[in-house]
This record gives sequence, C-alpha cells and structure tokens, in this order.
Amino acid sequence: SWTPEHFVDSAVEALRNTIGETDQVILGLSGGVDSSVAALLLHRAIGPRLHGIFVDNGLLRKDEFAAVLQAYEGLGLNVTGVAAAPEFYKALEGLSDPEAKRKAIGRTFIEVFDREAHKVEGAAWLAQGTIYPDVIESVSVKGPAVTIKSHHNVGGLPEKMHLKVVEPLRMLFKDEVREVGATLGLPGEILNRHPFPGPGLGIRILGDITPEKVDLLQRADAVFINLLKQHDLYQHVWQAGAMLLPVQSVGVMGDERTYERVVALRAVTSVDGMTADWAHLPYEFLAEVSNKIINQVRGINRVVYDISSKPPATIEWE
Ligand code: XMP
Repeated sequence: SWTPEHFVDSAVEALRNTIGETDQVILGLSGGVDSSVAALLLHRAIGPRLHGIFVDNGLLRKDEFAAVLQAYEGLGLNVTGVAAAPEFYKALEGLSDPEAKRKAIGRTFIEVFDREAHKVEGAAWLAQGTIYPDVIESVSVKGPAVTIKSHHNVGGLPEKMHLKVVEPLRMLFKDEVREVGATLGLPGEILNRHPFPGPGLGIRILGDITPEKVDLLQRADAVFINLLKQHDLYQHVWQAGAMLLPVQSVGVMGDERTYERVVALRAVTSVDGMTADWAHLPYEFLAEVSNKIINQVRGINRVVYDISSKPPATIEWE
C-alpha cells in the first residue's frame, strides 16, 4: 500500500536514475506546497544541483517573500530569490482587464525566470511541482471548451532552453503531497498553507494595479489571515483572502467625512477548488476583522463579506 516514506524512497531513486550525474536542475519555487515538496524531493536526490528560483512579483502576501525565502534557506535548499516587483508593476501599468493582467504577469514571470535560469551553467532539466489534478485540468483546459481562466506557468521555457521536464509529483493528489512534505520535514507554515494563485494579488485588486493599492491590500489581507490563524479558523477554510474593490464609499471618522476604498473578504470551504461554498465564519469574528482593518488600514473605510458560492461565482473575483 502507498506510504509517503515508500514514495520518497522510490521517487529519489527514480530521480537519481533519470537525471544525469552532472546535470543541473532548475525549479520555480512559489512558496506553495507543491513546488516546495518537489524541491525537497529533488534536493534529497541531487542536493545543490537543484537550483530553486523564487521570484518576488510584487503581488505576494505581506512579508511573504522574505519569510518563505528564509524557510527555504533553513531547509538547506539552494535557492535564489529574485526581487522583481518593479518589473511586474511596469508590465501591469494601465491594465485593468483580468486576462490582460494575467498575461502580463505570466509574460513577465517567464522573462525574469528565463534570465535567472540562463545563469545556471549546465542546466539540463526544468522541474515542476505539477500534481495529478493539474494534469487533468490542463487536459480539459486544452479541450474544445473555452478557457475560463488562463493559468500561467513557465510555458515555452523548456523548449527555448532545450530543457527536459521532470515532474516528480505528477501522480499524487494534494493530500498525498502534504504527507510527502511532512515526511521530508517541510515546516507546517508551508505544508498547511492555503492555495494562492500564481498572479497573486494582481487578480485580487480589481481594475488597474499600483504599488499603493498592493500595499493597502497586503495590509488588509494580513489582518484577515492573522485573525483566522489566531482564532483557529485558518485550517477550517480552503482558501481566504481580501479583494480590493474599484469603488470608493462615504464614511465618517470623528467629525470628518471620508471617501475611501472598500475591501471584500472572501473565505471558502472546498475539497478541490472546483466547487466551493462561502465559509460560514462567525459574525463576531467578521466584526473583529472589519474593525481591525478599518482602524489600522488608512484608506479603507468599508469591509464587506462575500456570500457567493462557486458555481456560479468563482473563488477569485477576477
Ligand atoms: P477560481 O477563481 O477559478 O479559482 O474559482 C480556483 C482556484 O484556482 C486559483 N486560481 C489561479 N491559480 N493562476 C493560478 O495559478 C490563475 O490565474 C488562477 N486563477 C484562479 C484560485 O486561487 C483557486 O485556488
């Protein structure tokens, strides 16, 4: 029967047999479970010949880049952090259509990643943290049906750089990936992390993106996520986050009239992200989140809670 220990042993052996003895392997790290587990597995198989590349696209959660990079270094991984936020903001300037933003983020990611990958001498492989549901989903996305949302990856890079692709988690479901990660010593903060979209806060800021809006949303989102953790609710929802809406509304603060932004909180329960129900979070909890955001994040004077299920609503607002 399947055990994570047995999987690790056989995957490590298979990787050593597949990857040539002097081959270097490149892997894009995102801070998510899948790419992190793939990295640990490859690290066990080939050590520092695995070169992780972790790009700060300026659309990550508050303080995430530094924290995750530190966690990777603590695990002994050979990782390069690339601070590329300005490049992404530049590519996004003036764009407000969701798909146009996704494309700009995807394109910039490939440019940055490509540049870093070329610095690795002897690179022969591109590793990816693809898991079984991704394999199925990408098949259906490429089918005759319309693309609902274009998920970005490192498309085109393997061919361009003549890299072979290795996907050690291709046969695993998410819960199996987590078991393997636990076996390999992945810290809980990464292991139990909610899914987070590749385009990040770029699709949670409705309309055009500016560094100021990113800062506002990062701070509101951090209040929400930290309180979920403090109240032991984080593990009970599949995914949660804040969305910055492209509207302003009137408020009062002391004797002053304010005209500021609105944040929508989104939290859902789900098994696989394909369908989802809005999380029935306690009113008292929502009240605390709302008060804290409005008191601490200047520029936001109204907080609403999204009570839509998927379908027909999606988890992300864009
Ligand atoms: P939706 O919004 O389609 O999201 O209900 C389902 C799951 O997919 C994530 N998501 C994305 N992930 N690139 C990604 O890597 C994307 O463009 C993208 N759009 C949505 C979303 O966060 C949720 O987990």
